[in-house]
Amino acid sequence: MNKIFLENIFPAPGAIPRPHHPGDAIDQRHYLCDGELHFWAGPVEEVFSPIYMTYHDDSPPVPFRLGSYPKLDKREAEKALDAACRAYGRGRGAWPAMPVEKRIERVERLLAGMSDCREQVVRLLMWEIGKSRTEAEMEFTRTLEYIDATIAELRNRICREAGLVREQGFVASCRRAPLGVALCLGPYNNPLYETFTTMIPVLLMGNTVIFKPPRLGVLLHHALLPVLRDCFPPGVVNSLYGDGEEVLAPVLKSGRIDLLAFIGSRQAAELLRSWHPAPGRLRCLLGLEAKNAAIVLPDADLEQAAAECALGALAFNGQRCTALKILFVHQQIVTPFLEHLCRQVSSQPVGMPWLPDVRITPLPEPGRVAYLQGLMADARGRGVRIINQGGGEACHTLMTPAVLYPVGPDVRLYHEEQFGPLIPVASFSDPEQPLRYVEESEFGQQVSIFGRDEEKISGMARSLLNQVCRVNINSKCQRGPDSFPFTARRNSAEGTMAVGETLDACSISSLVVGRENPANQRILAAIAPDLS
Ligand code: G3H
Repeated sequence: MNKIFLENIFPAPGAIPRPHHPGDAIDQRHYLCDGELHFWAGPVEEVFSPIYMTYHDDSPPVPFRLGSYPKLDKREAEKALDAACRAYGRGRGAWPAMPVEKRIERVERLLAGMSDCREQVVRLLMWEIGKSRTEAEMEFTRTLEYIDATIAELRNRICREAGLVREQGFVASCRRAPLGVALCLGPYNNPLYETFTTMIPVLLMGNTVIFKPPRLGVLLHHALLPVLRDCFPPGVVNSLYGDGEEVLAPVLKSGRIDLLAFIGSRQAAELLRSWHPAPGRLRCLLGLEAKNAAIVLPDADLEQAAAECALGALAFNGQRCTALKILFVHQQIVTPFLEHLCRQVSSQPVGMPWLPDVRITPLPEPGRVAYLQGLMADARGRGVRIINQGGGEACHTLMTPAVLYPVGPDVRLYHEEQFGPLIPVASFSDPEQPLRYVEESEFGQQVSIFGRDEEKISGMARSLLNQVCRVNINSKCQRGPDSFPFTARRNSAEGTMAVGETLDACSISSLVVGRENPANQRILAAIAPDLS
C-alpha cells in the first residue's frame, strides 16, 4: 500500500456518494424509561466517526462529528431500575404474566418497526463503527432473521410443552418461566446484532430489560427507541447511556438484577459481576475474548486455506471475537502458504465503508491503532518481519493489514488478542505444538484445521473438542449459523447463545405437579393453558 494513497484516503464531504452520506448530526437528548422518551438536559457525550474528513487539500483530515448522546447519571439509572422492577412486579407484572403468544405479537410488531429503520441503522453502523456497507447490511438482516427464528423456535416449544406429563404416579404441567430483571449489554463490533439477540429472547421469555448500547455504536439505537416504546408496556424495556461506573454500578449494586447478558471483555464482565452483592445469584450469559488459532497441515489446499484464513483474520478488520488471531502453519509448506496468504491480503480492498467489496476500513476504538503499532514494534524487536508489502501502515484510524512471521512464544502477538488487522503466523514441525498452544491458552472458543487427511484431522478434532467448543474443518472460525450453539470454555464465555439456547439461558424450568388422580388432573388441565 503506498503512503500517498493512505494519506489521501479520507474523503472530502463532496466526495461521499449521496446514498451513504451521514446526514445531519444527531444530538440525541432522549432516553427510554418507564414507557416514555424522557428529555435529558444534562451533560452529553460527543460522538465522532472513525471516518475522518478532509475539508481542505492543504490541511490534514479531522475527526467528523456525528452528534451526541445523554450522559445519564446515577439517579436516571435508578429510575430505569425501578421501572424495570415495577414492570416485572416480582413475576406478577403484566409482561411476565402475559401469555407467550401475546408477547410474540409485540415482538413481531417490533420487527416491522425495525425494518422501517433499516437504512438509518445501516448508515450509522458505517459511520459510527466503520463497518462496510455490505457487513452493516448483513448485521441488520441477520438481527431480524435471528429474532424471526427465535419466535419460530419459541412457538415450537409451546407446542411441545402443551400437554401434561405423567411419570411415576405424578402428573405435571412443565414450562419455562422468566428469571426477572435483566441487564443487556452488547459489544461495539456488533452493536445491533449482539444487543438485540440477547435482549429479544430475554423479553420473549417474560423478563424485563435495561439495556445499554456499547461505548461505540450508540446513535444507531436512537431511531429504535420510539419503536421499543410503542411495542412494549411501560418499564418492560429501558435504555441507559453514559459512563459504566456511573450508571451500571448502582444498578448492579442494588442486587435487583437477576440476569446479566454481556458481550465484551472478561475484565469488564468480572467488574460488572463484582458489583452485585450476591454474585452467585446473578445469572450470567457472557460472550468474552478469544484467540482462535488456525492449524494448517502439510496436505492442505494452500490456496483455499490462505483465502479462508485471510477472511477469518480480516473480516471487519479482525474486530470479531471469532476472528482467526494466530495461524500455525506446518514448516514443510510455510513458504508457499505465506505467498498465497500475502496475495490474499493484498487483494483485500482498503478504504471507506461505502466502497464496493471494501474489507479494510477505519477502526473505531480510540487508541487501537497505537496498540497495534505497539504489538508490531514488540514483534519486530524480536526478529519478526512484516512480510506483505505495505503491511501495517497507518493513517489516523486506518491501518493496512500486516502478516507477521515468524511469531513465537516470546512475542506479545502470540498471546494477546489483537482485535485488529494483524495476522501473526508461527510454523511448527510437530502437531503437538499447536495442540499444546490451544490447551494452554487462557481462551477456549474455536479452532480451524486445514488439511485433507481424514484420520489425522479427526484425531486432532477429537482432542481439540475438549479444549474449545467448535472445531472448523477447512473453514474459518465464526458464530453462525445462528441455530448452532455458540459458546466457549475458560475465559471466553459463560453459557450458550443460539436461537434456542438463549431462550433457555434467560428462563428457568418450572412446573405444577400433583399426584395423578382425577381431581388433580382436572386442576392441571385448567392451569395448563394459562401457562403458555
Ligand atoms: O465478536 C464476536 C461475534 O459474535 C462473532 O460473530 O463470527 O458472526 O462474526 P461472527
